[in-house]
Amino acid sequence: MNYDIKDIKLAAKGKARIEWAENYMPVLRSIRTRFEKDKPLKGVKVSACLHVTSETANLMRTLKAGGADIRLCASNPLSTQDEIAASLVKDYGIQTFSIKGEDNATYYRHINQALDHRPNITMDDGADLVSTLHTKRQDLLKGIIGGTEETTTGVVRLKSMEASGTLAYPIIAVNDSQTKYMFDNRYGTGQSTIDGVIRATNYLIAGSTFVIAGYGWCGRGLAMRARGMGANVILTEIDAVKALEAVMDGFRVMPMAQAAKLGDIFVTVTGNLNVIRPEHFRSMKDGAVVANSGHFNVEIDIDGLKKIAKSVRATREFVEEYTLKSGRKVYILGQGRLINLAAAEGHPAMVMDMSFANQALGAEYMTSHHRSLGKKVHAIPAEIDRRIAQIKLGSMGIRVDALTPEQRKYMTSWEMGT
Ligand SMILES: NC(=O)c1ccc[n+]([C@@H]2O[C@H](COP(=O)([O-])OP(=O)(O)OC[C@H]3O[C@@H](n4cnc5c(N)ncnc54)[C@H](O)[C@@H]3O)[C@@H](O)[C@H]2O)c1
Repeated sequence: MNYDIKDIKLAAKGKARIEWAENYMPVLRSIRTRFEKDKPLKGVKVSACLHVTSETANLMRTLKAGGADIRLCASNPLSTQDEIAASLVKDYGIQTFSIKGEDNATYYRHINQALDHRPNITMDDGADLVSTLHTKRQDLLKGIIGGTEETTTGVVRLKSMEASGTLAYPIIAVNDSQTKYMFDNRYGTGQSTIDGVIRATNYLIAGSTFVIAGYGWCGRGLAMRARGMGANVILTEIDAVKALEAVMDGFRVMPMAQAAKLGDIFVTVTGNLNVIRPEHFRSMKDGAVVANSGHFNVEIDIDGLKKIAKSVRATREFVEEYTLKSGRKVYILGQGRLINLAAAEGHPAMVMDMSFANQALGAEYMTSHHRSLGKKVHAIPAEIDRRIAQIKLGSMGIRVDALTPEQRKYMTSWEMGT
């Protein structure tokens, strides 16, 4: 078996955590039970590039139960949980290539090792595997029937590939399922980002001024949770509608240039580049804490910060202290990489249950429907999305009403008025 992980001896600890997460993933468990019987992925080779966490391990077990032959690598150099990687190899026979803290060269070597599998399906989170495949491993394209993509940034990149005619096979945008972005991005990122900031710094959120860049699905969740913990929350946006929504949700909204002077804690969740730049760092208060929870480490201009800093030193795990020429200090968390996975454990299993149900059912759908899907980014069919919500509700013991025949008719007709 091929693999590259930190230490196989960590497997026992990893297995216990995988089983713990499994307890809270009833939708994925029910899919695994059906997959064990039906084997919808029999003989399908999957190369997956995902955060190597306990929840991902349960997705890998589900795909394997369905008959898939899998190789897994990390979708971020800092997000791997080494004990999970060890258990995936030792206990579940999944060929895994990921080590927490790997450098960029190792990160891409691992992506290439996952691709050496000659996949039929790619499962990506951020589109680094897909872009490597389209630029450096084009020889593998002919074996591929389709793929799935987990996150907003990956979907943006794939849509750009589709628009330029570069995308060589169909991909399901798992992120665009309602049972994904409305829960994972909002409640998952909202909670786990705060968790990451607290674990890295032990900062008191109550009474702090908490600046969030981006009021998308992640930003909404984060703002809601920061306010719930007693922070004074400020939002920055570039979209007038989102900015207006933030205002009416009761948050202060202003440009980053103004917010930079007020914030104690800053978190970017925009999916965009250089949102916090040297001109902002220069006006920050002494001791400001700056983190990112967007997919890539490009939202904070750390290279720009280095140029205006007179010294840098590590102060705590995941915290680097930059002393500016003015003598003021700015603290960067997790090297600007997504802080919820760098310093905490990522999203809770309860929410990844739905995201990864979409991944598993997306892979099944792609296997049976790829011939009829064009080389585009596709949404998962609405009935699959609804079924996931129904199973999740059922697992929570919650029932909902059904339309009466009379209501169904009324909702699809126009004749009846006042
Ligand atoms: N940390 C995690 O575990 C996790 C989970 C899900 C998504 N993500 C990532 O988080 C990022 C955001 O995802 P989302 O689903 O919220 O996206 P989204 O598209 O719903 O929201 C992004 C928001 O940022 C705003 N924005 C863009 N540029 C900006 C700028 N310069 N200043 C201020 N605001 C700006 C946009 O107008 C938009 O409202 C993506 O990179 C996504 O891949 C991370």
